[in-house]
Amino acid sequence: MEDHGRTRWPMVVLTTSPFHGHMTPTLQLATTLHAKGFSIAIAHSKLNPPNPSNHPSDFTFLPLSDNLPAIEDSSSFPNFVNTLNNNCKPSFKEHLTRLISEGNKSIVVIYDNVMFFTGVVAVDLNLAAVLFRTSSAAFFPAFLARRQLRQQGRFLEEDFVMQDIVPNHHPLRYKDLPFCKSSIEDWKQHVANFNLQAHPSAVIMNTIKFLEHESLTRIHDHFHVLVFAVGPLHIVTPSPYIGSYQEDTGCISWLDKQPPKSVVYISFGSLATIDAKVLTEMALGLAKSNQRFLWAVRPGLVGGSEWLELLPDGFVEETRERGLIVKWAPQKEVLAHFAVGGFWSHCGWNSCLESISWGVVMICQPFSVDQGVNARYVSYVWKIGLELERVERGEIERMVKRVMVDDEGEQMRVRVNGMKEMVKEAVENRGSSQESLEGLVNFILSY
Ligand code: UDX
Repeated sequence: MEDHGRTRWPMVVLTTSPFHGHMTPTLQLATTLHAKGFSIAIAHSKLNPPNPSNHPSDFTFLPLSDNLPAIEDSSSFPNFVNTLNNNCKPSFKEHLTRLISEGNKSIVVIYDNVMFFTGVVAVDLNLAAVLFRTSSAAFFPAFLARRQLRQQGRFLEEDFVMQDIVPNHHPLRYKDLPFCKSSIEDWKQHVANFNLQAHPSAVIMNTIKFLEHESLTRIHDHFHVLVFAVGPLHIVTPSPYIGSYQEDTGCISWLDKQPPKSVVYISFGSLATIDAKVLTEMALGLAKSNQRFLWAVRPGLVGGSEWLELLPDGFVEETRERGLIVKWAPQKEVLAHFAVGGFWSHCGWNSCLESISWGVVMICQPFSVDQGVNARYVSYVWKIGLELERVERGEIERMVKRVMVDDEGEQMRVRVNGMKEMVKEAVENRGSSQESLEGLVNFILSY
């Protein structure tokens, strides 16, 4: 705690969405602001709620009546997000009104961009509403580029040469843009959701200035408000695991027995799904590469299966000596482990930040949303990973060897280790992320 006059400080109300990749950085931000002395309330959907016992006892939790189906039962992701916002809005307004009536005069609201109703309610009640975007900064200009193309009547995959660079948006290719493969209905709903956002009082990004300087400037130029780059939050305020999946920590003792930088870790985060054919190609490519691996296969990752039953016959037995499969790994610990030499990832933003922070080179296999943009930066701009263009066993074998064995992998490792050091500097006193955080604290205090 840094100030004894804390009771006079504004209360910070953070709204988190039910998605693991959004909730984790939002709760990390809450922990960071709590350590600075603010009192914290977390508004959350009843679906996938955070666990209060993982947080300081003085956190207040504000459950929102959401009446939602499970995410996977919804007709589409943008429809799900729309329903989430419509359903949560009334109870959020009730909570805020009550907090104000109880004498909490100055409240600053920080909201996950997926929970955009929060900004609207806050503005209605005359409160400051700070937007927290949990994706990369580069994703935002990419989204705007996609919207502009749509306005020009170019929508379908067939309208583009997917490998071409988007004019004025170097280094992005059409194929990297978000929602390039969405249906027209999904895209319309995305844009409708986006248009419902209130104008924020400021923007917080879980990124680092040196990494995304240009994209941060574009965000500033769009919103004309202060933009605070306070990441990577998992390093700024290290906190215990707060996710709802059960971590299999046994894999750490397995890693302890492996040689340095010898294991490729594979995980596609909390939302991506693959089909049986992709699973088969991945397994056979891994088998042919002859490299050690730790594979997080989330139940639900492979459509139409409970867990591992669709793996090729004999795969588990044949790779038993050099491979381990778990349901959910303690990813940050895994990436920090000396035995891990590569990360085959879907390039969710948290995964990219964690990989860079621990100096691990990547194989990029993006699926949707911001992942194509992130993969492009990892492979083409930062040159700390390779993009898997074809999910085919021979290609996978080559990729794994290029990253784990070849000189090319070693050169990327040198670059990513340089970035790891820059991340350390950014989060130290007077580093850019610490300065941004101080700026954010002062901004909140100005209310
Ligand atoms: C989602 C989006 O898909 C992503 O593109 C966006 O940037 C954030 O929201 P998700 O797909 O889950 O997130 O990916 P990611 O952002 O990488 O977050 C996954 C988190 O789960 C990471 O913090 C990672 O450490 C954790 N994880 C994943 C584990 O702890 N164990 C695992 O086995 C897999």
